[in-house]
Amino acid sequence: MRQLIAGNWKMHCLASEAVALAQGVAAGAQGIAAELLVCPTALHVAAVAQALAGTSIAVGGQDCHQARQGAHTGDISGPMLRDAGATWVILGHSERRQNHDETDELIREKTLAAVEAGLTPIVCVGETGDQRAGGQETEVVGWQLAGSLPKPFSGVVAYEPVWAIGTGKTATDADVATMHGFIREELVRQFGDAGRTIRILYGGSVRPANAAALLAIPEVGGALVGGASLNAQDFVAIARAAQAG
Ligand code: PGA
Repeated sequence: MRQLIAGNWKMHCLASEAVALAQGVAAGAQGIAAELLVCPTALHVAAVAQALAGTSIAVGGQDCHQARQGAHTGDISGPMLRDAGATWVILGHSERRQNHDETDELIREKTLAAVEAGLTPIVCVGETGDQRAGGQETEVVGWQLAGSLPKPFSGVVAYEPVWAIGTGKTATDADVATMHGFIREELVRQFGDAGRTIRILYGGSVRPANAAALLAIPEVGGALVGGASLNAQDFVAIARAAQAG
């Protein structure tokens, strides 16, 4: 299965910067074997989708509401993202779980809504530093997988240890291998054979310098990249590491 390299631009870039970043990625992406995705703020999805029209780089949102439409001031629905040109959406990112009190149940509802809108969801899971220090990381991730993924599930899972996000710390290759192996087992337990083909991304301080090693670990199906995705050259370098891996 082709690896997926997804850029999570978070709350960065004005419109012109987002378009320039997308153009920079497109300019460097020739001949890359990995599947590429960029996720700007919802406000810039349409402009970025337009800038990437005719390329194979997909565009995604960073969240969507669980309802198709309605009285939800400030929220954005799956059909709106799809209409703007997105084909993917990140759901349950730890910054949403922490800053917006998103629960596994809500993330499952959002995942269902995203799929119904024609978006491929990337559902994020991952333990905090305290949970890992307490030896609870697999238990926590197991609960998140059980609670956040609807049955059947057609999407991607991203393992992002919360303590590795934006910190420059990455999990060791051995820890990533152990966790991705555990997630694969859980997916097969939940979904049977269909669970074998769900891609499992790693996220958390992925950089050009560590990408090749991380992407070569068994059961790592790609990367969800935050900070380094804001630099087109770095993002493309990570994608080239996927190709090599
Ligand atoms: P980071 O973010 O690469 O800056 O650690 C990853 C993420 O939050 O998706």
